[in-house]
Amino acid sequence: MKVESATFVKSVMRTEECPRDGRPEIAFVGRSNVGKSSLLNALLNRKGLAKTSRTPGKTQTINFFDVNGRLYFVDLPGYGYAKVPKGVKEQWSRVMAAYLRGRDPLRLVVQLLDARHTPSEGDHEMLELLRRARVPVLLVATKIDKLNRNERVRNLKAIRTELNLADDALVVPFSAATGEGVKPLWDIIVPHLDPGR
Ligand code: GTP
Ligand code: MG
Repeated sequence: MKVESATFVKSVMRTEECPRDGRPEIAFVGRSNVGKSSLLNALLNRKGLAKTSRTPGKTQTINFFDVNGRLYFVDLPGYGYAKVPKGVKEQWSRVMAAYLRGRDPLRLVVQLLDARHTPSEGDHEMLELLRRARVPVLLVATKIDKLNRNERVRNLKAIRTELNLADDALVVPFSAATGEGVKPLWDIIVPHLDPGR
C-alpha cells in the first residue's frame, strides 16, 4: 500500500476511549524493546512517528495512528519488562487483553519476536491469548539484521519449533534498520483490511 498520510490520532488507557468510526485496525504486540514502534514507523515510512527508545518500556499506552484515512495502526505497550512496577504491569496487561480480545475492528495482530532469541514465556502467553481470542496473528522475527546467514536459518527454525507452528504458518523476517520485510508485511496486511474477501 502506498502510504499517503500517517498521523498520530490518540493515546488511550481504556478500551472505551478507542476510536468509534469502525475503520479496520492492525495492532502490533511483542515484548518490551523488541521493536514494535520501529516496525510501525518502517511500514509507514515515517521515522519518528511512533516514539522509540533504547530503554524498554517506552510505549505505555494504546496508541492509534491514522493511515491514509482508511485504517488504524495500533502501537501497544510491550510485555515482560521487569522494571515496570507490578501494579502498572497488571494494569497494562488488563487493558491490552481487553483490547485484543474484544475489539471488533481488529483485523490482524502482528506479533513481533526477537530473531536473536528463542521465544519467551511472555511470547508464548501472548500467542495463546490471541489464539483463544481467534484473532488472526502474523508472526514477525525482527532485528534480523543482527544475524549472519547461518544464525538466521537456525534461529528462524528454532522459533518455529519452540512455538510449535504449523508448516504453513509464516514467520516474516524483518528489519527496521534495513527495511527488509516491509513489502512482504504490507502484502499480508492489505487483504485483511477488506472484510468479506
Ligand atoms: P517498547 O515501546 O518499550 O515496548 O519497545 P518497542 O517494542 O516499541 O521497541 P522500539 O521500536 O522502541 O525499539 C527498541 C530498540 O530496538 C531501539 O533502540 C530501536 O532502534 C532498536 N530496533 C528496533 N528494531 C530494530 C531492527 O530491526 N534492527 C535493529 N538493529 N535495531 C532495531
Ligand atoms: Mg514502543
